Amino acid sequence: MEYKDLIARMKSVRNYKKDVISPEIILKLKDYYNKSKRLVEDIDIEVMLKNRDEVYDKLKDHAGYNDIMIDAPHYIMFLSEEKDHYIENVGYAAQDVRLKAYELGIGSCWITMCDGDSIKERLNINTDKKLTAIIALGFDDNKNKTVVENVSEYNPSKASVSIVEDNVSERLRISDVVYMKKWGENADPDEVANLGLLEAFFYARLAPSTKNRQPWRFIYDDGMVVLAMRNDENICEYEDKIDTGIVMLYYQLIVDNTLFKMNWKLGQPDKKYEIPTDYNIVAYCIN
Ligand SMILES: Cc1cc2nc3c(=O)[nH]c(=O)nc-3n(C[C@H](O)[C@H](O)[C@H](O)COP(=O)(O)O)c2cc1C
Repeated sequence: MEYKDLIARMKSVRNYKKDVISPEIILKLKDYYNKSKRLVEDIDIEVMLKNRDEVYDKLKDHAGYNDIMIDAPHYIMFLSEEKDHYIENVGYAAQDVRLKAYELGIGSCWITMCDGDSIKERLNINTDKKLTAIIALGFDDNKNKTVVENVSEYNPSKASVSIVEDNVSERLRISDVVYMKKWGENADPDEVANLGLLEAFFYARLAPSTKNRQPWRFIYDDGMVVLAMRNDENICEYEDKIDTGIVMLYYQLIVDNTLFKMNWKLGQPDKKYEIPTDYNIVAYCIN
């Protein structure tokens, strides 16, 4: 796949045409998702493709931001074995499938859910695996909408989300999300370019995240890249870990494509970094 181009162009699609996807394209997608990329190799994932009539009414007020379910002709469900880092792994794998779908001309959007078990029950899905992702799928009707978060002045933890007509979802700059050696030392893009990592960070920061909160920060330190994620009060563990898996995929795709094959290590490096209390170091890699 032409990952850079796909990452740069793909946006969340919240309004779909009624048309269903052709069996040929469904077949290509199924073939792809059986071999999509994984962050952790030995976790079994089962993928199910469902049509609107099997899902929409049952989840209408039970999934999505503020329980606003996205109305789409199809949905893909990712069900995973529950092993260490299985949520990050599904974030990583499912985002790769979204990129493939986009390459095939199909729009998509993550649908949040903080309690996979109750949704699995509603949908009568019978498997031991944990429902770990739902993604809406179909043809974009080109009425772009984006999501905005209104944080109450009086109670910042009570954010409400609205979906408004727009076609941009802004991202932070490289210098806002990449630090050199220690927290808060904003990277100079020229310096990042000299290290050969400009593209990797440029595309990583285009990663979609829950409510576009862009919780990821990177510390570059002597050949090592450390990934820290912000804990936001109004975000559940599920959303936090899916956001983590997605940004790890984006960074890795570009390094693999432009430099060399790399691997993330989940957890903390030996070296300790002083970071704010609302952030956690979740992974690192050697570049
Ligand atoms: C884990 C996760 C859950 C999301 N859940 C929803 C959702 O329930 N409803 C929705 O409209 N968008 C949802 N989104 C889409 C994000 O709001 C969107 O990716 C972000 O605002 C950036 O916009 P973009 O994808 O168009 O670049 C979700 C994204 C992620 C990563």
